[in-house]
This record gives sequence, structure tokens and C-alpha cells, in this order.
Amino acid sequence: MHWSHTFYEQQDRLTGYYSQPIHPFHTALAARVTAHRGRPGTLLELGAGGGQFATAAALAGHTVTALDLYRRGGEHARRLAAGHGVAAAVRTVTGDFYTADPGGPFGTVCCWDGFGIGEDADQRFLLSRVARWLPEGAAAYVGVYTPWYWAQHAGFTRHTEGYTQTYGFDADGCRMLDTYAPTAAPALTQSLRCSSPADLRLLLPGTGLTLADVWAGGAYHTQAGVYQPQVSLGECMSDVAVLQRG
Ligand SMILES: C[S@@+](CC[C@H](N)C(=O)[O-])C[C@H]1O[C@@H](n2cnc3c(N)ncnc32)[C@H](O)[C@@H]1O
Repeated sequence: MHWSHTFYEQQDRLTGYYSQPIHPFHTALAARVTAHRGRPGTLLELGAGGGQFATAAALAGHTVTALDLYRRGGEHARRLAAGHGVAAAVRTVTGDFYTADPGGPFGTVCCWDGFGIGEDADQRFLLSRVARWLPEGAAAYVGVYTPWYWAQHAGFTRHTEGYTQTYGFDADGCRMLDTYAPTAAPALTQSLRCSSPADLRLLLPGTGLTLADVWAGGAYHTQAGVYQPQVSLGECMSDVAVLQRG
């Protein structure tokens, strides 16, 4: 079985990451996507986790389909949406984004922190699926990890009571490695392909998508222990690729 089918459930057990409330970051991202698109509409989120962005997008007026492999993430998404009074605007689908049929077309497709899980052929296949979910002229917004941040910060270690988290970098595969070593269980690692905008452009021919824009994201400053939500493209941990259909 691929590591992604077990990693996120174990990560949730260790960190509680998928049961968090909405962060102002999700609200700001939902507002930015909505403003870029011009108005709210139907929105498919791939790898929606605990539904924090999905709920923020519903609060911004979208009708959201939140797709994720992780069943408990979907359960939390429904609770979160209900708690914010937007249960009717968030539909969860438990399934694999390479194979599931969430319906559609959707006015917008988003994917945050879930792109890069597979190999390049998987990514190309997923991008082709994204293009088929979108009408002509619509856009997908995809969070992409940058190679430079993760190469520079390999070796960073965070100690907590229950586990130690270590960042690594596979230079040959250009993948960030994020390892959790629990005190009383085997370590688990997620490995995500990092791409510059130039790398991403090489993936796109034949998918039906073009790179229309790149929004620089934030960076965690490991020495200061501070997260800065907006830095330059050359400094950020991840950016948002705006991928236009057609
Ligand atoms: C790093 S988490 C990000 C979650 C959420 N987007 C966020 O930003 O908080 C990646 C998510 O992608 C989901 N995922 C991984 N592979 C998937 C697949 N093949 N199909 C659907 N979801 C998948 C995981 O279960 C997990 O919830």
C-alpha cells in the first residue's frame, strides 16, 4: 500500500492536525481565491483534510465538495461546517483523487498541501483529471512545495512530548521529507515532490492546463520559531499555482 494511505491518519493521531478549527490563513486564502475567480460558485477541494479550507470557502459563499481519502477528516469537515452554519454547502466524499468520481463540473478546483504525493506521472494524471472537472476558462489553485525552502531547511528538528519531527530533502528526487518519530512507535515519513514554476510548466503540456500565475506563500523561520505568512517566491515554503483550463 502507498504510504499516503496510512500516513495522514497516523499524523492526525500524533498531532491532532485534522481536528483544528479554521485558521485566519484559511479565511484569507478562501477570500483570495474567490476574489480571483470573481464570485463564489461550485468548488472541488482535493485532499481536503479536516475541512478547514472547505468550511472557510463555504463561508465565502461557495458550494464545496471536499474529497479526501481520510474518513475521519471528512467527519471533522462535516462537524466544522455544521458548527459554522454552512453544513448544507459542504459535501464530503471519502475517496482517492486519482480514481473517485466527485461529480462536476466545478467552477473552481483547489488542492492545498496534497500535490506532490505521487510521482510525476501521477501528478500529470491528476492534473488531467483537474482539467476535466473544470469548464473552459476556469482555474485550479494548487499549493506546490518549493525545492529551495526544503533543501535549505533539511535537518530541522522539532521535539514535542509525544514525537520528534524532522525535515529532510531527497535531492535526487527533489522531494521534501517530513518524518515523525513517536516515542513508542516506528517513525513515519511523508515525501512530497517539490517544484519550481519552471518544473511545473514541464508537467503541464497535454494536461489541458496552463500556468497563469504563481502566488508566493509563507515561510517558517526555523531559528526564530516564527511563521511569516507572506514572503518572496525565492523564500517561501510553498506557492499557489493558478492553473487555467484551456
Ligand atoms: C498534507 S494533508 C493536507 C490537508 C489539507 N488540505 C490541509 O491543508 O490542511 C494531505 C491530505 O491529502 C489527502 N490525500 C492524500 N492522498 C490522497 C488521495 N490519493 N486521494 C485523496 N486524498 C488524498 C490526505 O488524506 C490528507 O488529508
